[in-house]
Amino acid sequence: MSSAKKNYSRITTNALHKMKQQGDKIAMLTAYDFTLAGIIDKAGIDIILVGDSASNVIAGHETTLPITLDQMIYHAASVVRAIERALVVVDLPFGTYQADSKEALRSAIRIMKESGAHAVKLEGGEKIKDSIERILKAGIPVMGHLGLTPQSIYKFGTYTVRAREDEEAQTLLKDAKMLEEIGCFAIVLEKIPAKLAQKVAQSVSIPIIGIGAGDAVDGQVLVMHDMLGMTKEFSPRFLRRYLNLHDQISNAVNQYTKDVKSGHFPNADEQY
Ligand code: KIV
Repeated sequence: MSSAKKNYSRITTNALHKMKQQGDKIAMLTAYDFTLAGIIDKAGIDIILVGDSASNVIAGHETTLPITLDQMIYHAASVVRAIERALVVVDLPFGTYQADSKEALRSAIRIMKESGAHAVKLEGGEKIKDSIERILKAGIPVMGHLGLTPQSIYKFGTYTVRAREDEEAQTLLKDAKMLEEIGCFAIVLEKIPAKLAQKVAQSVSIPIIGIGAGDAVDGQVLVMHDMLGMTKEFSPRFLRRYLNLHDQISNAVNQYTKDVKSGHFPNADEQY
């Protein structure tokens, strides 16, 4: 059992802060439904992110942009119903916080009220400072997200590593300090050089959770469908697959289909 699971019967933003201070690494995964969220909560995951990656792995869109606030709330409420220990963080989807800070607050309030989640995550730094501040003032915990921010994919043009150049690295570091200063409880750093992520983690007192950001940060996050091997084509260097569920599910369904067609399912014990 991890020391975090032993020490915290319920993960709060304060618990995450303590974990950083004590050097206890934070484990975070995405989930979008009741059944899988319940399994990973009982297995000891610290943070569950109801990510807008649902747009990709659940809905089959090419990007995270199409998913709506109503759809995120549906996924988040399903996850929250399964949770006993993990902190549940929900992505504010594209188009629900960039226009102005009042709309951002309204979106965050809908997520908190209608799903029962514990915090929200927004992509970006200085440009969305007003929105983050307004949400924080309403008492809603905010997780930041810097580096590769998939909602800006059409601006970047590519999913390649961000902040390799000094200017972008300096801006990222400044944004991270700003997010800490205004009161975010943690920051996700996606796909940036490990050295830069280490510098950020050492420069702020709030937990830094990395995805493709090396090992010198305070925790790691992966998309659950990727780490369980349900997705096949997506194979970035940072992804470790712990299972090959794609092939296991495919084999199981193939066998079931054969059994049904051949009359081997159900057998005498499997009927009334
Ligand atoms: O939506 C998501 O799954 C995310 C993670 C990749 C951090 O934002």
